[in-house]
Amino acid sequence: MDKLIIRGGNRLSGTIPISGAKNAALTLIPCALLTEEAVTLRNLPRLADIDGFQHLMNQFGVNTAIQGTRPEDFGRTMRLEATRITSTVAPYDLVRKMRASILVLGPMLARAGEATVSMPGGCAIGNRPIDLHLKAIEAFGAQIELTQGYVKAMAPDGGLPGGDFDFPVVSVGATENALMTAVLANGTSRLFNAAREPEIVDLCNLLVAMGAEIEGIGTSDLTIHGVKRLNGATYAVMPDRIEAGSYACAAAITGGAVRLEGAKAGDMQATIRALRSIGVEVTEDAKGIDIAAPGALSRIDLTTAPYPGLATDMQAQLMSLLCMADGASVLKETIFENRFMHVPELARMGADISTEGRTAIVKGPSTLTGAEVMATDLRASMSLIIAALAAEGETTVRRIYHLDRGYERLEEKLQLVGADIERVDD
Ligand code: UD1
Repeated sequence: MDKLIIRGGNRLSGTIPISGAKNAALTLIPCALLTEEAVTLRNLPRLADIDGFQHLMNQFGVNTAIQGTRPEDFGRTMRLEATRITSTVAPYDLVRKMRASILVLGPMLARAGEATVSMPGGCAIGNRPIDLHLKAIEAFGAQIELTQGYVKAMAPDGGLPGGDFDFPVVSVGATENALMTAVLANGTSRLFNAAREPEIVDLCNLLVAMGAEIEGIGTSDLTIHGVKRLNGATYAVMPDRIEAGSYACAAAITGGAVRLEGAKAGDMQATIRALRSIGVEVTEDAKGIDIAAPGALSRIDLTTAPYPGLATDMQAQLMSLLCMADGASVLKETIFENRFMHVPELARMGADISTEGRTAIVKGPSTLTGAEVMATDLRASMSLIIAALAAEGETTVRRIYHLDRGYERLEEKLQLVGADIERVDD
């Protein structure tokens, strides 16, 4: 298994190209199930989860072709053609590693009238139930059965009527599944308290390009008028706001100056506000974001929240940065109950962090030192890399398959801006 070795202390400087958003890609790919025409997705990141999703689509009989497979290509293009669906089952061995596989449930049900999906696994950041996905689909008229670790959803004869659903908790995935189901329902559906993350807007934009009728895009109340059929489309995946935010923290912790080429500032205002309060200079333009951290960093208090609040996916990386800030920062995690797994690893590098329930108190500035650390989930892994970039000496990060799930060519991008990082075979 590969590991990453980082020798800290280099001030990052230069340009990092930002990839297409993993979380957007994972909901755009299953949209191909909604039409017999080809859906072509550009700017897909080169990630293990995308390859996993491609295999899953092939299992349903979807033809896929990828361009941009040369190692030097950033931004691959995938053409997906679901002319005929040959299987409506997403089996355990394909979905167990990828929680996002649950996102095939809605579009498969909408297109084929039934869908059977193994219960998902994925990142270990809490219980992560799927009850809201199922309740929303049920509200549209589907019948749900849970047997032997599988969810089976069935539409009545004549198709799903559609319906209304009010989310008791904001859920990105459940909103996505509900949208992909409702677009082909017989009637009109309404979603209240829906998630409005930029990835949801990206999904709505693709669905509209395919002929869907959706009102309220970008708000928490969505009205979807079901249409008889959808057509193919060509669509470019949005830039990854979490990748961009992660590299912003990496640049800042080294006191560096880095341009995030292709990052979209409008999608990541909560992160930008947090960085500015910490003392990081952030300059936005139409084609990217410039980050510079020439001076001392200040403590702040942060609370994660659904969009437009601060993304839970940025909490771990900002925590690493706050280890170098002057004073005690308080971080509250309101989305997932088990998302401080990076804390003991950061402590092994010299960070002073205490937790109580969903609150962490980070006391800085710390003198971080290199250590052997273990990646636990995707964003926690990135927080260890960020800390390692500022640490004295060498850090070894193991279990980096988590990183490969979410950061396209991480070590290459960091090398571009002068980091001393290498991947070695363990
Ligand atoms: C997505 C993102 C993930 C991000 C998260 C929150 C993808 C592939 N993943 O995950 O990176 O951290 O949004 O921004 O896009 N919940 C329920 N029942 C459900 C579904 C969710 O109670 O059926 C709860 C969850 O336990 C959690 C909260 O709702 O407490 C938000 O989860 P959700 O927004 O659904 O996260 P994901 O879509 O899984």
